[in-house]
Amino acid sequence: MLNIGHRGAKGHVAENTMESFLKAFELGADGIELDIHLTADGEAVVIHDETVDRTIKNASGFIKDFTVADCSKVGIPTLVEVFHVLPEDAFLNIEIKNPEATLVVADEIEKFVRLGEIHYENVLVSSFHWEVLGKLSQINPDIRLGVLSEENSKEALAFAKEIEAYSVNVWFELLTPELIALARQHQIQVHTFTVNSPEDITFAKKMGVDAIITDYPDRV
Ligand code: G3P
Ligand code: CA
Repeated sequence: MLNIGHRGAKGHVAENTMESFLKAFELGADGIELDIHLTADGEAVVIHDETVDRTIKNASGFIKDFTVADCSKVGIPTLVEVFHVLPEDAFLNIEIKNPEATLVVADEIEKFVRLGEIHYENVLVSSFHWEVLGKLSQINPDIRLGVLSEENSKEALAFAKEIEAYSVNVWFELLTPELIALARQHQIQVHTFTVNSPEDITFAKKMGVDAIITDYPDRV
């Protein structure tokens, strides 16, 4: 079972920052999860919201109006920068927040796999925007896909089967023995988010999930 740091080690360090990713590994995470938006000049950058208002001090506005240079000035990493610091064999869950970033993410993954810096087996692209996953399954079947859902695990599993996804990534409250059994039957992994309390972590482990996404990798 994989221990995946949510937005890095969000429980300890500011989310989706280089410091947070490094902290997650320091705390024993097998991998990290991060969120992707697209800049005005077409770069995939790592930030959860479509604006910088909540997470970046003394700045405001939409990421789509920021250039990659603007992002760099305020500490928003690019996906490529994360590829460069990813430890050998670490797992990376790239969540696409803005569907317009899809092709850029696919291109960067392909490029870094070709360079030998990352491997398809270590990267999972997930999204709540299922059309993004459908598109990726068409353009590069080597990219592993995770169908995100916080509402309906059955529909997520059905869609995962349809596009031959690697996993369903479901909110932990949706976990049931039936879901796990059905997923296993179809060789689809079950990843769960965002599991933070010791009780919920114990519950997810008992359910037999393949990965726990947590703000506290030190608790898993
Ligand atoms: O990928 C799981 C989780 O990160 C999805 O929710 O809002 O934290 O991106 P959110
Ligand atoms: Ca996320």
